[in-house]
Amino acid sequence: MIIVVLGPPGAGKGTQSDLLAKELDLPHLSTGDLLREAIANRTPMGRLAQPYMDRGELVPDDVVIALIKERLVQGHPPTGAILDGFPRTVAQGHALNEMLAELGRRVDWVIYLSVPTEELLERITGRYVCPRCAATYHLRGSPPRTPGVCDVCGAALQQRPDDRLDVARRRLTVYFEQTAPLIDFYRRQGVLTEINGEQSIDAVFADELAAIPPRHR
Ligand code: AP5
Repeated sequence: MIIVVLGPPGAGKGTQSDLLAKELDLPHLSTGDLLREAIANRTPMGRLAQPYMDRGELVPDDVVIALIKERLVQGHPPTGAILDGFPRTVAQGHALNEMLAELGRRVDWVIYLSVPTEELLERITGRYVCPRCAATYHLRGSPPRTPGVCDVCGAALQQRPDDRLDVARRRLTVYFEQTAPLIDFYRRQGVLTEINGEQSIDAVFADELAAIPPRHR
């Protein structure tokens, strides 16, 4: 099953994709994580992407399309995947449809997590992540047991550079201009389920499990 998890920055895409990946035994592909890894490894792609990400802008379509194609189509294509943060423009949506069509596949299900803007800013600016094992925390909602220290591996937690308030506001503007049109794009394809993302993490996940398209249960 190919699942797209769609939603604004801070909606909980990463959190829910992790849970779904474990539940459905599918790989979790996050373009944000892949790009941050490229930046950390100082690859040419990372150097290209960093200024866009630091400003809260989207990385050019051709770069992220190539990144996903490499993992989804080339070599040994996985039997399914959870796509977190891709597609993010209608052009990326068309590119995904085309690359899946080459494999005789299609997007099976799109989960759209809707969350009000003020809640998003609170979630983004309160987030801390572990640079070693990628565990995610929130200062108020899900704090680590020891402040500033990862529960899982003990590394010092960090704030993402693009989680500062000014950059977070820019990311939200970019989302409404360039990514939100994908909601109608997928609604027209009859594959979109809107989930109320302004609930506890467990309640959002329960709603998702209840909404899995019947042919994939
Ligand atoms: P990316 O890493 O994808 O960031 P994003 O889409 O802005 O999403 P976030 O990671 O901020 O939030 P999320 O929805 O995953 O929420 P999370 O689960 O972490 O992209 C970063 C950048 O990379 C982009 O700006 C762009 O530059 C570039 N990029 C990536 N993909 C691209 C593409 N396809 N094309 C072009 N450029 C691309 O949760 C957030 C916080 O809230 C956490 O602290 C969490 O603990 C908490 N939380 C989660 N759920 C709940 C809940 N239900 N209740 C309370 N708190 C919650």
